Amino acid sequence: MSTNQESPVHPWQSGGSLPDPTAPAYPVHPSIPVHQQFTTTVLPHPYAIPRARHAAISTLSQWAGGHVDQVFRAELVIGELLANSIRHALPQEIRLTLTEGDGALVIEVEDGGGPTCPSTPVRVPEDCESGRGLGIVSALAHSWSWHPAANGRRVTWVYVPPTPC
Ligand SMILES: Nc1ncnc2c1ncn2[C@@H]1O[C@H](COP(=O)(O)OP(=O)(O)OP(=O)(O)O)[C@@H](O)[C@H]1O
Ligand SMILES: [Mg+2]
Repeated sequence: MSTNQESPVHPWQSGGSLPDPTAPAYPVHPSIPVHQQFTTTVLPHPYAIPRARHAAISTLSQWAGGHVDQVFRAELVIGELLANSIRHALPQEIRLTLTEGDGALVIEVEDGGGPTCPSTPVRVPEDCESGRGLGIVSALAHSWSWHPAANGRRVTWVYVPPTPC
């Protein structure tokens, strides 16, 4: 019996290679030794942002090696990520974690996740009032991405090197 259905062509049949099962499914931040760490929880409401930001900045300023410029970049990134979690993610408690190692910072914001994912639009129309935040984060940091966490939650991370990129 013949059929018109085409059988799928698998990569190994077409001469390609199998996917690497050890490759991370989501981009990971550059690895750093954990010299210092700070974590705080933030309620999913805009009024909670200034307090969390000030706590984070005061901690970063105390950490040895916290260059003024790096602290300033981190402050902008933290404000943007928290605003995004409050505006775009499901309204659950947010967890902000800062990790310092060899002068580099990793900023992680875990939120309630939801139907949209952090992404930068290819092009934002000039008259559009939103859609620029993560573009600014990209300009301030070396790299950023996100990965899923337990219970449908999500972690957005940003890697901020000691000196501007
Ligand atoms: N934490 C998040 N959870 C779910 N979706 C997100 C999250 N952060 C960003 N997004 C998605 O990525 C898009 C781009 O985010 P971005 O911060 O660049 O722009 P915006 O928040 O829409 O506007 P702006 O930051 O300029 O006020 C958002 O519109 C949203 O769809
Ligand atoms: Mg935003």
